[in-house]
Amino acid sequence: MPVSFVTLDGSEGIYILTLRRPDALNALNSGLCRDMLDALARVDQDPGARVLILTGEGRAFCAGADLLEREGAALEAIWAHNRLIFQIPLGLERMAVPTIAAVNGYALGGGCEVALGCDLRWAASSAEFGCPEVARGIVPAAGGTQRLPRLVGSSRAMALILSGRRIGAQEAHRIGLVDAVVAPEDLSRAVGETARIIAANAPLAVRAAKRAIRHGLGATLEAGLEFEGQLQRMLYATADCQEGIAAFRERRAPRWAGR
Ligand code: COA
Repeated sequence: MPVSFVTLDGSEGIYILTLRRPDALNALNSGLCRDMLDALARVDQDPGARVLILTGEGRAFCAGADLLEREGAALEAIWAHNRLIFQIPLGLERMAVPTIAAVNGYALGGGCEVALGCDLRWAASSAEFGCPEVARGIVPAAGGTQRLPRLVGSSRAMALILSGRRIGAQEAHRIGLVDAVVAPEDLSRAVGETARIIAANAPLAVRAAKRAIRHGLGATLEAGLEFEGQLQRMLYATADCQEGIAAFRERRAPRWAGR
């Protein structure tokens, strides 16, 4: 059996993808990247999937690109490694279901960029975030220079990326990099609760809401509004739309059919 650097657990449509290279602070070697991308594809192929939670084993969420894999490597090999990491936040962003980063510790460099690819970010109070690439002679090129300013604004992104400075979870929360900060021992329970709240909603509507927001972020307002309308028209024709109304009228919990 080949060694796997991740585990993927799922129950009732809620998947948990755990990075398991704790001795290297879950640094992204090529093997870990491939295992993550395989896991994302498996979740995406499951029509019963509702939410994906991403977290790390040990004291790091992910300490970024495996720098040791790059030492002395040929330029093309380093570039291929960069492009492999680049695929992870992109893949997360393109997944049909919402994704939540449960940031349990260091989220540095590519690790921070992976968290940026998620739709929501919750952090343990002990977590630390940073983009130290400029201190290593490069830039955050797994989407970091593009996603960070879109999330926190250009000035805050400039400050983080140009300084390479690490910030704690509270500061990350203050600048809008994370949605919530909880005690480390509460992180998986709190994120699980959020995932269950999302998973209890109409599955097609949740997927459509994610698509509309993601599409709109890269489009003009006009194009985004047009896309939002197309999705809504599609949802009006679903059984779940009727079920949502019936459940309201009958004062009961909805039973979603997912069609
Ligand atoms: N690539 C490869 N290995 C890494 C790594 C990385 N990005 N980050 C950590 N590791 C490894 C260390 O080499 C060490 O392995 P070892 O025990 O075999 O020597 C192990 O993880 C623990 O790291 P260590 O540096 O001893 O822990 P620390 O608590 O002193 O420091 C960090 C933690 C995260 C501050 C420090 O490891 C660090 O700065 N890592 C690099 C982060 C980075 O620059 N990422 C972006 C790359 S562009």
